[in-house]
Amino acid sequence: MESTVTFLPKNKKTRIPSGTTILEASLGIGLVHRHVCGGNATCGTCRVIILEGKENLSPISKREFQLLGEDRIQQNCRLACQCKILGEVVVKIPSWLPVSVQDAQNS
Ligand code: FES
Repeated sequence: MESTVTFLPKNKKTRIPSGTTILEASLGIGLVHRHVCGGNATCGTCRVIILEGKENLSPISKREFQLLGEDRIQQNCRLACQCKILGEVVVKIPSWLPVSVQDAQNS
């Protein structure tokens, strides 16, 4: 089964196998997406905002909850490395996540 994810602000859309993480999907289409800990749920740098389809994502894990905190979760923030796509979603990669000045200019 396939799912669809759209990344803003670049407005890039891709179809991926259901169960793919948001981070895998963004990196898979060549987007700049910071992930300092390599997807181990310890840095928080991969966090994204879910704009549409939060019901189409895997449940928030205990580790994700601990790292993000209740306030960010209330604002539809998720860890892209932990969050699996199970349907259609629209995600914003925040502009405060560039890894370099060059990335910032391209975002
Ligand atoms: S890459 Fe570090 S928490 Fe997701």
